[in-house]
Amino acid sequence: MFKFYNFKALNSTNDKAKELAGKGLSNIVVAADKQIMGKGRFNRKWDSGIGGLYMTIVLKVRDLDKVRYLTLIASIAVAKTIRKITKSNALVKWPNDVLINNKKICGILTETISGKENYALVGIGANINQQKFNKNISNKAISLKIITNKNHDIKKIINEIIKQFDNLYQYYKNKKYNKIINIWKKYSHTLGKKVKVKTFSGVYIGEAVDIDKDCNLMLRLGNGKLKKIVEGDIFVV
Ligand code: BTN
Repeated sequence: MFKFYNFKALNSTNDKAKELAGKGLSNIVVAADKQIMGKGRFNRKWDSGIGGLYMTIVLKVRDLDKVRYLTLIASIAVAKTIRKITKSNALVKWPNDVLINNKKICGILTETISGKENYALVGIGANINQQKFNKNISNKAISLKIITNKNHDIKKIINEIIKQFDNLYQYYKNKKYNKIINIWKKYSHTLGKKVKVKTFSGVYIGEAVDIDKDCNLMLRLGNGKLKKIVEGDIFVV
């Protein structure tokens, strides 16, 4: 179902995926052992040395409005994979992270190409065999190695993520979006928590009560009103 393109090093698997999608390829997975210029959300840098997992799933999509569901699917697929390997309680954090013990093990960057054909590039970065992290993230990041005290076969993990992703992707293809939301809720770290959200338009504090049909986070503010959060970083307070 998915064809794999494996590289020793790439600037970014998302950028390579963009190049290949530009040539009309889809249903492919681009993976690299390391990235030279790995990128995160909001143009942040993504530390991408050997030992991490770096992959991008390329899909042809009809409706660009629904692409955010692919980010949810990818995060659930990673959480399921990690649970299978470690028996730990991996949870998904809105909109694009996977956490263990409140620390980040995976981030997802979904980009799109629009044109005669539309494509989604679902980029997944996960901490697997890293023992240490850069100072600026060391208290917020965790890896499979830190949890299990052993190294893991990254190729096998990629295969399992793809298997899980493909199962959930069937709901997406059949427009069973509600099903995806319901599964996501079962894995959610965010819902029910009091959170601070930093967005481009301001900072909001409230209880994360739901995600809507467009995958936005719904926050119950102190004044009782609901605030729709379209983008931003979430901090549990
Ligand atoms: C984030 O948490 O900000 C998202 C991080 C996404 C990183 C992955 S690694 C594979 C793919 N290629 C990239 O350059 N970024 C994504």
